[in-house]
Amino acid sequence: MNAPEPGFSAPVHWHWREDATSRVPYRTYTDEALYKEELERIFYKGHWCYVGLAAEIPQAGDFKRTFIGERQVIMVRDNDGAINVVENHCAHRGVAFCQQNFGKAKEFVCPYHQWNYDLKGNLIGLPFRRGVRQDGKINGGMPADFKLEDHSLTKLKVAEKNGVVFASFDHEVEDFDSYLGEIRPWFERAFDGRGLTILGYSRQRIPGNWKLMQENIKDPYHPGLLHTWFITFGLWRADQRSQMVMDAHGRHAAMISRKNEGGAGEVTKGVTSFKADMALQDDRVLDVVPEAWWKGPSACMQTIFPSLIIQHNVNSISTRQIIPQGPDAFDFVWTHFGFEDDTPEMTRRRLRQANLFGPAGFVSADDGEVIELSQVGFNQHPDYQTITELGGREVGNTDHMVTETLIRGMYGYYRKVMGL
Ligand code: FES
Ligand code: FE2
Repeated sequence: MNAPEPGFSAPVHWHWREDATSRVPYRTYTDEALYKEELERIFYKGHWCYVGLAAEIPQAGDFKRTFIGERQVIMVRDNDGAINVVENHCAHRGVAFCQQNFGKAKEFVCPYHQWNYDLKGNLIGLPFRRGVRQDGKINGGMPADFKLEDHSLTKLKVAEKNGVVFASFDHEVEDFDSYLGEIRPWFERAFDGRGLTILGYSRQRIPGNWKLMQENIKDPYHPGLLHTWFITFGLWRADQRSQMVMDAHGRHAAMISRKNEGGAGEVTKGVTSFKADMALQDDRVLDVVPEAWWKGPSACMQTIFPSLIIQHNVNSISTRQIIPQGPDAFDFVWTHFGFEDDTPEMTRRRLRQANLFGPAGFVSADDGEVIELSQVGFNQHPDYQTITELGGREVGNTDHMVTETLIRGMYGYYRKVMGL
């Protein structure tokens, strides 16, 4: 990480308290100028952003269009089998030439003036480069010193790690393993190099600031309170053996936990979302089968700052991509996947359990809704601050989930990067 540049010049009345990452000014979630600065300092510089799974583009020419921050990029497999990521932005006059989310191409041709690019993003030709012959003379053409190699698409730096693809506009970004830091063992627990299979996608637009999604998956306080499903059926609750882990910067985190059998107890007293008499007509969605790669914990929710969540909860696994859309909205794209050695029964189980998650998931619908409601509150009182003091004001790993330490960790890092 490069040294942070001088601070974003925020009006003094909403500066952060000197010592605090345990209070977050509401304007952090609403300010348009701050958001633009986040795009530059976080999404376009110094960080790796998720673009997809290699299994989404198995063959030469397969491509996927997606976003890093607000910029469109294309992840494409070339004829050498390598994965490239290029910006969807014609070098001629800027056209976002690719209009499909997925497809297959031999080359990319811009519709406007048909400049064409190979699958590595090199400009390989353009019409009328040497002019057009008419009445015995050559009209027009590009200047004699025009060189194709000076006009490639913007090529991003790419890291493929055990089937997961990240890219950065910043070619000086640190290498990917060191970027993951202390979170790497958890990343490699989910992605150990086994082949992946794509099971399906869900997409939603959530009307809240993108950081709220990072916070949501760094917040072990809420799952056993907000989510009826978790507390009632024992998938995630405050009385379970758990661990909160972050990298040395505090930007990435993992929340690790083990399910229990649910039912009433100390932890359900007075919790209105606990429904003692709730039972399922069809309980196959809770047909959980432990897998060897878990090495114990039934859930590990990872946040890879800034753009990715890796969800493992029982037999459901997915990547969730965060695509900011202004300060008060983001798109959230879920890719549900399995492993090549899954039996057909396991694939069906993963698909069934995917109903817990996604935009209308039995659990995750709750999160989309509270994020929207948080944003409503922030807009009402621009000068207020949130309080994230559960478990103290310090930042550090814990062996329990009654803490907001991971959120404090992220804002410590955020303040440094943003110069706030
Ligand atoms: Fe793409 Fe002209 S803008 S070829
Ligand atoms: Fe949640």
